[in-house]
Amino acid sequence: MTQLPTEATHLPSSSDCNGIGIRVFGNADAANRCVAEEIANQMIYAANEGRNCVLGLATGSTPIGVYRELVRMHRDEALTFDNVITFNLDEYLPMQPHEPQSYVRFMNEKLFDHIDIRRENIHIPDGAIDPSAIEAFCRGYENRISDAGGIDLQLLGIGRTGHVGFNEPGSTRDSLTRRVRLNAKTRADAADDFRGIEHVPIHAITMGVQTILSARKIRLLAFGDHKAPIIRRTIHGAITGDVPATFLQGHGDTQFLLDEMAASRLDFVSSDETHHS
Ligand code: F6R
Repeated sequence: MTQLPTEATHLPSSSDCNGIGIRVFGNADAANRCVAEEIANQMIYAANEGRNCVLGLATGSTPIGVYRELVRMHRDEALTFDNVITFNLDEYLPMQPHEPQSYVRFMNEKLFDHIDIRRENIHIPDGAIDPSAIEAFCRGYENRISDAGGIDLQLLGIGRTGHVGFNEPGSTRDSLTRRVRLNAKTRADAADDFRGIEHVPIHAITMGVQTILSARKIRLLAFGDHKAPIIRRTIHGAITGDVPATFLQGHGDTQFLLDEMAASRLDFVSSDETHHS
């Protein structure tokens, strides 16, 4: 392996495959800092132009480090969220906002309670909604995203099934915000959080594939060995509704930020090409 000068060792290796930019980092922290900085720059750029910055946000274990870094930037570097409007990807159905597994609670605890975002600028699908009102709610969610000017940057994780948001296998490219049925693997992955698979909700509300693809920039994070097979399929595989994340191949400004383990099954990334920070 070629020894790099020390000042260059924070740089990730970068490549492009099927239209997806791929950046491989020595560890998750380095990837988290990189995305948090890009989000902060997007916010500052919009503020300087007198505009709002519209962010699409994800839950789950993956983005926690990004939120931690954004909170730190708010606290230590006076980064303001005064001009930020957020739309979360999804929420279980049914789900009351105060329940431990609620994405409302997650976002408050990980991010919103620690920054100066205006509460009226936060949008999360309503898991407590009456079933008869779901369709109208979903149409309204799409309208609110459009009225806000569309999403500037969408943050994503990825599920073992290849879901983005809760767009499970079988989702179509033109799908919009809607009620979905969760895949058995996704429910199994959530079983610990709910103390048993039998308590995991069967349904969720999620932004659609098209809703996600309408974002001007998409940044997907994946860390760990267990994500390597689905990352390989998403990047090297054919575009198919069986692996909804493959629709990102057609987007145009999508980057995957991976640690070495998540990237370990990609054809062209050898560990010699990645650099540690
Ligand atoms: C969460 C979401 C999901 C997760 C995915 C990965 O809002 O939309 O698609 O990003 O299930 O979850 P973790 O990060 O827990 O591995």
